[in-house]
Amino acid sequence: MELIYKGAEAELYLDEFLGLKVVIKRRVAKGYRHPSLDLFIRISRTRKEARLIRRARLGGVPVPAILDIWKDSLMLEYIEGEKLAARLDEKTMRKFGHIVCRLHNSGISHNDLTPYNAVVSSRGEICLLDFGLAESTRDVEDYAVDLYVLKRSLKSITDNWKGLWESFLEGYLQCGELANRVIRRLSVVESRGRYK
Ligand SMILES: Nc1ncnc2c1ncn2[C@@H]1O[C@H](COP(=O)(O)OP(=O)(O)O)[C@@H](O)[C@H]1O
Ligand SMILES: [Mg+2]
Repeated sequence: MELIYKGAEAELYLDEFLGLKVVIKRRVAKGYRHPSLDLFIRISRTRKEARLIRRARLGGVPVPAILDIWKDSLMLEYIEGEKLAARLDEKTMRKFGHIVCRLHNSGISHNDLTPYNAVVSSRGEICLLDFGLAESTRDVEDYAVDLYVLKRSLKSITDNWKGLWESFLEGYLQCGELANRVIRRLSVVESRGRYK
């Protein structure tokens, strides 16, 4: 198994399973926690992540297939492609908006919605990754914060963020009523951000 990513919460390995390329996401132990509490936390976060990936998939959000779950480890389908951050164009952002609208319609906030947590295949298909911080919620505020985080990260990546953001919103508005409410709440979140 080849280590491909090492974060504060998890390590990711590339492996093969039944002839398929897979990723194993394993949550790392924290030395400052009691070992049995630590294992309990890692197992429950792994299960929660799997539950939310499954719910997103049922809501029509393209996510990696879950192939196995074992204690603190998730085995996911490997998604071939480039990070969305490296493929920022208006057509792709419109598609991404539609995907995020489905996610929110499924009652999920992602909570780390940046163009580094989505992969675009060579055919232009997007897959949303990293449900490690995601939550089950029906609170419009949580969805607005997802958009706030995404908008800020677009601004930090490119000076041409405006057109990309407009395209994202076009796709996102396909949610109908919910999207309108989220976008209205986003103005409130943004005005708070300015005076903080
Ligand atoms: N299913 C996958 N297919 C391909 N690459 C993946 C997959 N899952 C994760 N990765 C890669 O590993 C990185 C870290 O995974 P992620 O789930 O975002 O972990 P963390 O919660 O630590 O941020 C991702 O940014 C992506 O590059
Ligand atoms: Mg991540």
